[in-house]
Amino acid sequence: MFIHTFSSDMKKQLDFLIQGVKNIKEVGALTRSGPILCKKMISPVPSDKDVIVVELGAGDGVITRHLLKKITPNSKVISIELNEKLYIKLNSIDDQRLHAFNDTIENLDKILLDLGIEKIDYLVSAIPFLIMDNDFVSAFLNKYKTYIKPNGAFTQVHYAIKRKFYEEIFGNAKVHFVPANVPPAVVIESKIV
Ligand SMILES: C[S@@+](CC[C@H](N)C(=O)[O-])C[C@H]1O[C@@H](n2cnc3c(N)ncnc32)[C@H](O)[C@@H]1O
Repeated sequence: MFIHTFSSDMKKQLDFLIQGVKNIKEVGALTRSGPILCKKMISPVPSDKDVIVVELGAGDGVITRHLLKKITPNSKVISIELNEKLYIKLNSIDDQRLHAFNDTIENLDKILLDLGIEKIDYLVSAIPFLIMDNDFVSAFLNKYKTYIKPNGAFTQVHYAIKRKFYEEIFGNAKVHFVPANVPPAVVIESKIV
């Protein structure tokens, strides 16, 4: 049992590494988020209240699985992943609360419209915003922060600190270090007031 879980995790890590090496500019990392980082990314999401969570850059679903373990039976997770190989793994998660899309975050509006969703509770992002155009990221987040209900939150994983950038957009940004991750990571958390 232990050996099976270990080798299945190694396989997922290896598959992710292959996609990272092939498409580093798109994937933005060579390793998937470790368990401590995944838990930190979803720490604002409650386990006792129905919520709608949008997850950007879901990869093979490593954070998604943690989310699905945590949320209530009537909650929803909308996960978007651009890389087709990673999306196939994401979409193999058998859970009716998950709505997975092989698409770019630029189509988020249409995805939510098709699902009949106007407001969300949490926005969880692993998109490599650091290597994307600042003006695009700023316009994107300024738009979608208005979709998040009051008392909700935005979380973003990074491998460098960029607190001020998020503070200017959301009005607040807390930095959580996750030194135990490989490589050490930072989670930015902004509350919606
Ligand atoms: C750093 S990886 C994170 C993967 C996984 N969530 C994790 O935490 O290990 C970033 C992911 O964002 C995806 N991505 C990059 N640009 C995207 C875009 N414009 N739309 C959707 N997904 C994108 C990449 O393909 C990659 O899987």
